[in-house]
Amino acid sequence: MLNTPLTLPCGAVLLNRLAKAAMTERLSHHDGHANQSIFDLYQKWIDTEAGLLITGNVMIDRRHLESAGNVIVTDESGLPQLKQWAAMARPGRHLWVQISHSGRQTSRFVNLRPKAPSAVQLKRLGLFGRPKAMSEEDIQAVIRGFVRTAEVVKKAGFTGIQIHSAHGYLLSQFLSPRTNKRTDQWGGTLENRSRLLRTIVKECRQALGASFPISVKLNSADFQRGGFEEEESLEVIQMLESEGIDLLEISGGTYEKLAFFLMNEKKESTRKREAYFLDFADKVRQQSALPLMITGGVRTYDFCEEVLRNEEVDVIGMARPFITNYEDIPDFLTGKKDRLDNLVIRTGIKSIEDSAEGGFYARQIFRMAKGKPIKTDYSPITNTLFFIKTEFLKGIAKRFG
Ligand SMILES: Cc1cc2nc3c(=O)[nH]c(=O)nc-3n(C[C@H](O)[C@H](O)[C@H](O)COP(=O)(O)O)c2cc1C
Repeated sequence: MLNTPLTLPCGAVLLNRLAKAAMTERLSHHDGHANQSIFDLYQKWIDTEAGLLITGNVMIDRRHLESAGNVIVTDESGLPQLKQWAAMARPGRHLWVQISHSGRQTSRFVNLRPKAPSAVQLKRLGLFGRPKAMSEEDIQAVIRGFVRTAEVVKKAGFTGIQIHSAHGYLLSQFLSPRTNKRTDQWGGTLENRSRLLRTIVKECRQALGASFPISVKLNSADFQRGGFEEEESLEVIQMLESEGIDLLEISGGTYEKLAFFLMNEKKESTRKREAYFLDFADKVRQQSALPLMITGGVRTYDFCEEVLRNEEVDVIGMARPFITNYEDIPDFLTGKKDRLDNLVIRTGIKSIEDSAEGGFYARQIFRMAKGKPIKTDYSPITNTLFFIKTEFLKGIAKRFG
């Protein structure tokens, strides 16, 4: 099943059911353009033969970055580099761009006063400034920004886009009542909180045409009191289905609760069935015919075969195995390799758990881009420091470079 094609509603065909989920590369310099390091990294991922590769966050606004090393696309100034990146995909294989705005989850190194739905600050290690609530004009600029970036990457030759509406970034902030306290047409009811995401999907569809794949990455829930919850997510999915998207990727969590890669407290049923968000996928399936991708925790060939055969999901998303096990993926696709065990980094210190794990993988991405082998014996503390140092240096470069 893993190695069988899938036709999406827009008519595009994925040659197999394995997708590399988005992973922020952190490799761009002050100009925010793609560069040789990114091409060298992607060559390794292209060689995995996965049917779909989704880039890491590509940002619509240089003042709002998920990471200071993000690629930024606000106009056509980086088009030659984007064309080179897009042209790397082998015929029939898909390379999609994840388009994003970080809102309040923008570090102080990039922006001391980021814009967000409301002035609700993210309090984590003092790294995030107090946001300003967006004006109507700011919101219209975000809509134009997503559409502009989508148009440029299509022109560059990428074969699809993914709108990032998960993990606590701007569109996910709009969805959540914890971070969206607005009383205008963009806040309050779920219909209002989801208006920005729905408008962006609609306008991207209009700009890109009926046959261009559009995906949305959405949280099943934020896993926080007063946050975006499963019932609401199911309703948003219904709305997205009527907007005509091609692939829904399910994830969960925000910077306040990093469920998407630190699923420590996962339920017994989830532990047995590997994938973090499979229970939720089952609920989506009962109400929706949208092609479905789940990402988070999937590691064995038998599990992939089982959930694809049972039609519980259509595409398997994986992220960390594309770092630690990228050379094994061609054999995984054909069943010769039966599991991909990524490394799990845990410190026991709650406040740095995510940066120790994230820093470890960020370091490996840098090594892959330099053609170096994976190095497993980094200490969690140096992973955290690497993370902060990279964000600081690249943040300064982006602001003043
Ligand atoms: C180094 C790293 C960078 C990531 N960057 C992104 C990103 O840019 N966009 C995104 O939607 N998810 C990002 N994620 C989350 C992954 O796409 C995925 O949801 C998560 O790692 C769970 O999948 P896994 O268990 O297969 O790793 C990142 C994960 C890692 C490890």
